[in-house]
Amino acid sequence: MTTLFINIKELIQVRETTTKKVSGAEMNILPTIKNAFLLVENDVIIDYGSMKKAPNSADKTIDCTGKMILPTWCDSHTHIVYAGNREQEFVDRINGLSYEEIANRGGGILNSAKKLQETSEEELYQQSAKRLEEVIALGTGAVEIKSGYGLTVAAELKMLRVIKKLRENYNIPIKATFLGAHAFPTEYKNNKEGYINLIIEEMLPKVAEENLANFVDAFCETGYFSVEDTDRILTAAQQYGLTPKVHVNQFTTIGGVQVSVKHNALSVDHLEVMNTEDIEALKGTQTMPVALPSCSYFLSIPYTPARDIMNAGLPLALATDYNPGSTPSGNMNFVVATACIKMKMTPEEAINAATINGAYAMNLSDEVGSITKGKKANLILTKEIPSYGFLPYSFGSNLIDSVFINGKEM
Ligand code: NIG
Ligand code: FE
Repeated sequence: MTTLFINIKELIQVRETTTKKVSGAEMNILPTIKNAFLLVENDVIIDYGSMKKAPNSADKTIDCTGKMILPTWCDSHTHIVYAGNREQEFVDRINGLSYEEIANRGGGILNSAKKLQETSEEELYQQSAKRLEEVIALGTGAVEIKSGYGLTVAAELKMLRVIKKLRENYNIPIKATFLGAHAFPTEYKNNKEGYINLIIEEMLPKVAEENLANFVDAFCETGYFSVEDTDRILTAAQQYGLTPKVHVNQFTTIGGVQVSVKHNALSVDHLEVMNTEDIEALKGTQTMPVALPSCSYFLSIPYTPARDIMNAGLPLALATDYNPGSTPSGNMNFVVATACIKMKMTPEEAINAATINGAYAMNLSDEVGSITKGKKANLILTKEIPSYGFLPYSFGSNLIDSVFINGKEM
């Protein structure tokens, strides 16, 4: 079965080579072909080019006059498996409490953990599947999902089994990250060592035995997991082949970047608070910095200093952080717009960050993230737009005509 897209006003993020990520000044270059065709066979991109060279026929032809095509968004950081919501905390924050104050009262992550522990695996799956369908319709074609709202052996495994079931039932690439080290459960408040031992001695072996995770994560932050705790957990995870992707520098800079780099982390995520040493530590590494601007927006905290990161020659990826506490939104279109508006990224930089660099941050560079022969035909077909810069410019507007996953319209 071949599908031929013709008269594409502009085909965006075309990479002939096997570029795995773009860094520094390269991020401002977004390769495109104007007045293009794109040929898909079954679920794979097999050809593209100028309309002058378009094939004459295919099993199905789609006329894209006035519309553009880009690869689907690669959302490399989400927590979409959760139970219920935290709308009450949202109102508490409006009324003056801080995110930190809410967490200190036993709200926050512990509130979500309590809800999740009380929710059956089936119910948790249903709630999470709804969110996954929502984000696919918004143009996301590859996603990473974390555990971390379980915080007991049973509940962490429940979360990861839900992620596994999502992967079995939905045909986009889904990567799973074990985040047992998300918060200390109340019963371990005065026995932090005990919880870390539980993660290392019980959770990690079971997660590995059932092959439930690709990556390991920890919330390395003042009041959560220290640099030493993070080091112990990443070291233990290494023996199970789990690559680190770590929550660091959300509120404070305590050495989270450095410990992640030491363990060859695939990504370091959040980075709202960065000093020069943190930026220096990332130079010459294979670690992708990941910014989560809708978290900054929702919590009114600083935005990741994207310009400083890119000016240092580093790459940057963008992701949603979709979760019930700090970012109850999985809209990558909003993330791209917010990165331009608030972080002063150009549309080219933001689109690179949300596609090819996002794919890298999930180890999915060979499958998604660009219009490349052999990659999955996971595509966004836009409505009629004057330019691709119009996507972030018209923030809040829905400019997606349709989403194709594995060559099929959703
Ligand atoms: O990435 N910072 C840590 N974890 C999540 C939010 C946790 C929550 O509030 O539920 C985040 O922002
Ligand atoms: Fe997160």
